Amino acid sequence: MSILYDEKRRIFKLDTPKSSYIIGIVDEENFIGHVYYGERLNATDVGYLMRLEEPPFVPSRNNRDRVTFLDSFPMEYPAAGLGDFREACIEVRTESGNAGLQLNYVNHKIYPGKPKLEKLPVTFGDEQDCTTLEILCEDEHLHLQAVLMYTVFEELDVITRSVRVMNQGDTPIYLTKVLSACVDMDNKDFEMISLHGSWARERRIQRRKIGYGKQSVSSMRGESGHQDHPFMALATEHATEDRGEVYGFHFVYSGNFIAQAELNQFDMVRAVMGIHPHHFAWKLENGAEFTTPEVVMVYSAEGIGKMSRTLHDLYRKHLIRGAFKDRKRPILINNWEATYFDFDTDKLLAIAREAAKNGIEMLVMDDGWFGNRSSDNMALGDWFVNEDKLKGGLKYLVDEVNKIKVSGGEADDMQFGIWMEPEMVSPDSDLYRAHPDWAIQIPGRTPSLCRNQYVLDLSRPEVVDYVYKMIYDILSSANIAYVKWDMNRQLTDLGSAALPADRQGELYHRYVLGVYELQGRMMRDFPELLLENCSSGGARFDPGMLYFSPQIWSSDDTDAIERLMIQEGTAMLYPLSAMGAHVSDCPNHAVGRTTPFTTRGYVALAGTFGYELDITKISEADRSLILPQTQMYHRYNDLVRTGDYYRIASYAENHYYDCWQVTSKDKKESLVTFIQVLSRPNVHSRRVYLKGLDADATYCVTQDKIGEDFVKGAQMVTAEVLSATQTYTGDVLMKAGMNISMQGDFTGVLISVRQME
Ligand code: DGJ
Repeated sequence: MSILYDEKRRIFKLDTPKSSYIIGIVDEENFIGHVYYGERLNATDVGYLMRLEEPPFVPSRNNRDRVTFLDSFPMEYPAAGLGDFREACIEVRTESGNAGLQLNYVNHKIYPGKPKLEKLPVTFGDEQDCTTLEILCEDEHLHLQAVLMYTVFEELDVITRSVRVMNQGDTPIYLTKVLSACVDMDNKDFEMISLHGSWARERRIQRRKIGYGKQSVSSMRGESGHQDHPFMALATEHATEDRGEVYGFHFVYSGNFIAQAELNQFDMVRAVMGIHPHHFAWKLENGAEFTTPEVVMVYSAEGIGKMSRTLHDLYRKHLIRGAFKDRKRPILINNWEATYFDFDTDKLLAIAREAAKNGIEMLVMDDGWFGNRSSDNMALGDWFVNEDKLKGGLKYLVDEVNKIKVSGGEADDMQFGIWMEPEMVSPDSDLYRAHPDWAIQIPGRTPSLCRNQYVLDLSRPEVVDYVYKMIYDILSSANIAYVKWDMNRQLTDLGSAALPADRQGELYHRYVLGVYELQGRMMRDFPELLLENCSSGGARFDPGMLYFSPQIWSSDDTDAIERLMIQEGTAMLYPLSAMGAHVSDCPNHAVGRTTPFTTRGYVALAGTFGYELDITKISEADRSLILPQTQMYHRYNDLVRTGDYYRIASYAENHYYDCWQVTSKDKKESLVTFIQVLSRPNVHSRRVYLKGLDADATYCVTQDKIGEDFVKGAQMVTAEVLSATQTYTGDVLMKAGMNISMQGDFTGVLISVRQME
């Protein structure tokens, strides 16, 4: 068993392959304390880490200093109002308006497997994969109980956390804050790593030394957001990709969140994560329960890279579900950047036919096919086909696309995918005119528009049912293989016409549950569907959405160079198989930059891979590279989708070049991608140190020369692996490295490294 209870010491020890997490029960009051989290220990006699022999002593010994004790003891799940002045995980308001709470140990159970969390996305594992500890605690005064749930993964350095709160008292209790996890640790000169950005600049990595007080990352936008990501890592000073301790916290949720590190007067850090308490108040009637979303905690003693690979394995095996969990995805072409709203059946079929000749396997019809949607100002909610654009209707178009034969690909017939934005309504729509109260709004106040649209109130079951029927009808009307589910605004003006006054604080969370309900129903009814989530690019790229869709659109910025930073930040947490990435036309629509077509392909290869351009209009030279690129995808996608990701160099840090590597689990095959962003005169070739190979095996190193002639001729570029087409031991490639020489800006090279038989 990877979880044990040492009854004598009253210590729980949770072990993953390389980490231990230890909890202690102390004093006659049964406080639950955090003892240790870090490299795996082989003993339980570490209760001294809670410093119970030092003042302020436990209250039973010296009740005089109860407040001081509560404010310094390393609490496993701190409550507010009685003396712990650090960030609390749980706060309540009783009917009489009081707030004090203290949750102390009652009993526990340990069992193989992992529970589901009602209505919530959650990592999963069977009895071989996982062991779970549930600690029941209670506030005797309020008869409020909480179950602290911990699941240990046997093969990964992952512990997941969630909390279930039950009201066993006679009167309602309002939960005004209920976070999912807390870890109180001594500071190890921690630095906080987090992801930030904006539309078209998602998930840039930030690192800062933590200081006294609170440093947090949060969203109050109703979705996880472009700006901040529901993730935080605490890394020891100077931790690198390969060295140093890293504690990662990732939230399996898609709404408001907070992740915070607080350094206190005793140089202890309290890390917390959960649903943001802003405008949150959940009414718990007698006998009712509330379950918090899950926090994934990862410990790595081998730097940031090991944390990334652990999360990738966790998400690939224990979060992503459905038909495409382990399957290669079709190469798609999306018409958004090709046509925006200006398309019809003929244009789409022309794109599909040309695409199929070049190995592209699916056409995705983006925004603009329904109602009178001629721009983003109208018609969301009117999900009937616009027959002026799609002459003959949706089924005719889909059938025609399905008749097209794909050359050079793995699919015979071209498939069809569709865009939807089911959560929204335009003021200029039949739906809004019929049901204005279905939009989230505060009575008597004109709601704020964003992209000229409102958000549907998915806390209302009748709205969820209506929206689902619309989705069901569309998906049943034709042979649709893929859905891009978009969400293009944040939540504001929080008010629901259906919730009573004392439940309005439930709306943010109920909305997220409504989204999960819709996507859950859709995937149950259409299990073969490939779902790609999207939110104005990558504003809802989070583990919660990944539970429903194996891939998420990373960003509306498809520029290969900007993508280096977006994809580096995203790949710090997510497997490459999850990152929606396309080759688009140049000058790029987001930044106006022109990059070689080959480089755009190399960068998109590190994601799901597809196209976002009008293939009938691009230059012949670019078009001639598409078939070789699709073949490149088929050559490498199994490796990219399933392999171990290593970050070799970061353009965000060095400002000149970027390099990453993917190595198969058996270490037989590896792919190195090197992108030179800016060329420099009079410099040596770059020395690149590979990672994750078998030191004793011999590898053959070859440069993949997709479109090299074009690159050389038209762009005056050379990219050369100086050590190319030779054999080296893994030891040499990792310790001594290889040389790469490039000329020209925005150039790239793909290097295949294969073990010799
Ligand atoms: C935002 C998405 O990120 C784009 O790819 C596109 O689908 C538009 N919405 C359509 O409105």
